[in-house]
Amino acid sequence: MNIVIITGASSGMGTEFALQLDAELSLKKVDEIWLIARRKEALLEVASVMEHTTRVLDMDVTKQADMDRLKALLYREKPEVRMLVNCAGYGMFGDFDEQSEADVTGMVDLNCRALTQMTHMCLLYMKRNSRIIQLASSAAFVPQKSFAVYAATKSYVLSFSKGLAEDLRKRGIYVTAVCPGPVDTPFFDIAEKGGGTLAIKKLVMAKAEDVVAQAIYDAKNKKKVSVYGLPMRAAHVITKVLPHDLILAVMRLTK
Ligand SMILES: NC(=O)c1ccc[n+]([C@@H]2O[C@H](COP(=O)([O-])OP(=O)(O)OC[C@H]3O[C@@H](n4cnc5c(N)ncnc54)[C@H](OP(=O)(O)O)[C@@H]3O)[C@@H](O)[C@H]2O)c1
Repeated sequence: MNIVIITGASSGMGTEFALQLDAELSLKKVDEIWLIARRKEALLEVASVMEHTTRVLDMDVTKQADMDRLKALLYREKPEVRMLVNCAGYGMFGDFDEQSEADVTGMVDLNCRALTQMTHMCLLYMKRNSRIIQLASSAAFVPQKSFAVYAATKSYVLSFSKGLAEDLRKRGIYVTAVCPGPVDTPFFDIAEKGGGTLAIKKLVMAKAEDVVAQAIYDAKNKKKVSVYGLPMRAAHVITKVLPHDLILAVMRLTK
């Protein structure tokens, strides 16, 4: 049985991946799409409009007991995982010294640890020509004031994805790190809970459907990094060229 696994499928870009991958002709060879997130009702709603057979797995990917259930399911069914999309993630704005311990460690736990564990677990079931799509962020490009932990977690995802891509070359498995700027999803409902916002948000906000379409195209074309839109592509180049201390000083002045 060939399957696609999408985490964070109950909302935002994860839902968009589910819908767009469902519609992809090349996925005719896929037997099932497994949708993962904590909110079962939201996952069922997504599944209800999909053509493919879906499996709704309401689980918290940061909980070991839930991950053990998934591990057992994979072991039992022994599917071929044709694609893994790791979308589950969150960010909280705020100065680190004003954030709660639960918030700062929660971001690391979900964005880094759970993503790494999910990747490791699914790799056992991946063969040549499979794809791994990891949701990083343009926040990965440079350290961020009032978004320090989130940006650091996404730097981890970007670095991990690039290293993983090298490790998996021998197996013919391709990894794409997706690095969007602000995307119009419920992400900001959580991110802005503690106060604060992203100054450039309104200027460069992208649509989830466009970011995801670009990511799927880039993954098909074996690109290691997917960056949607001119502003973020420019940011990607600038953050590679200019010293990060200088960028941080400019960002400080514009606050
Ligand atoms: N929106 C942006 O501006 C933006 C920009 C760059 C990168 N990103 C990244 O893109 C990814 C998707 O974000 P989004 O914008 O689509 O945000 P979103 O709409 O808030 O989606 C986040 C998803 O993660 C799931 N999730 C959260 N905690 C989970 C847990 N413990 N276990 C399982 N699932 C969990 C949520 O579902 P449940 O609540 O049902 O569990 C939801 O489906 C994230 O990694 C985010 O960091 C977002």
